[in-house]
Amino acid sequence: MRKILAVAAVAALALTGCGRSTDTGTGSTAAASNPADITVGVAMPTKTSERWIKDGDYIKSQLEAAGYKVNLQYANDDIPTQVTQLQDMITKKNGVLVVASIDGTALKGALADAKADGIPVIAYDRLLRDTDAVEYYTTFDNLKVGKLQAESLLAGLEASGKPKPWNVELFAGSPDDNNATFFFNGAMEVLQPKIDDGTIKIQSGETDFKTVATLRWDAAVAKKRMENLLTKSYSDKDVNGVLAPYDGLSRGIIAALKGSGYGAGGKDLPVVTGQDAELESVKSILAGEQYSSVFKNTQDLAKATVTMIQEILGKKTVTVNDTESYDNGVKKVPTQLLDPVSVDKSNIEKVLLDAKYYTADQLKS
Ligand code: GAL
Repeated sequence: MRKILAVAAVAALALTGCGRSTDTGTGSTAAASNPADITVGVAMPTKTSERWIKDGDYIKSQLEAAGYKVNLQYANDDIPTQVTQLQDMITKKNGVLVVASIDGTALKGALADAKADGIPVIAYDRLLRDTDAVEYYTTFDNLKVGKLQAESLLAGLEASGKPKPWNVELFAGSPDDNNATFFFNGAMEVLQPKIDDGTIKIQSGETDFKTVATLRWDAAVAKKRMENLLTKSYSDKDVNGVLAPYDGLSRGIIAALKGSGYGAGGKDLPVVTGQDAELESVKSILAGEQYSSVFKNTQDLAKATVTMIQEILGKKTVTVNDTESYDNGVKKVPTQLLDPVSVDKSNIEKVLLDAKYYTADQLKS
């Protein structure tokens, strides 16, 4: 393991052209290196999605296994709650902050306080924007997530045997989440040429990010929009595919489609994509409803984050593999990117069981 990390650090050096050791150094918290003396503050956005519960659990248990104390907080998707939680972590002298934001631009004030106190901040999964107080970022390759979603949408449409042009509708995630733009841009790199050459028709005409975005990743908002699209553009034709960026939204969209007669009486459900391999969506994929998801192994994300914390506090070279992609408006944030995996009915069981993400029992409906 030590060897792999060393190799990764050398690879990071090669990518960046220089060694990155943390420059957080002056605060007494950052200088402490005995894990038992350090509490890591972990700020998570919400428990409404299964994915963040898993993230919190993995981070907490892995940090505790490494000897740290953990202050794990969920903010119920409420921005003022998250700000208060961060301020409390700073007051309590938590030694490092790991932050998965609700709104990536709303935490500037609290993060500036953390920086002033010498507390290193790691952006977790979602980039923290418009601040110089974020030191590092751990996430999955978000552009690739979008590309995988679009490629799977095209594969599903091809496999459906439906004649071209295919009628497709587009959904994006929360506009205040930096990831949502990356997912959408990645997907459009693949889909735009197909729209341009007429293979795909967006019957609603709604293709612009702001129009198709879904505030707070809210399934009820996506369901409502899908219902409106069906009424507005599909009274005399069928929708064949839906780009959905996250499993919660996919399930809302599928509920709207079923409510409108899809999935019964010979009217096929369209190809609907997703992300996160949430258990309910995995079951839906196995049952032939949702077409696909993108699996992001959050055990690995937690592991990368713990490694980063150990390196920062140990004043070692911090392992990153991308120093260009994530400009937060103030700086390019050095990032450790992990690899997302496209899953559909053909591989989902094997991928998730091999990763020990679920047990075989959990996957039984
Ligand atoms: C994104 C995250 C996705 C999904 C979504 C909704 O920021 O990268 O994996 O979980 O939020 O929670």
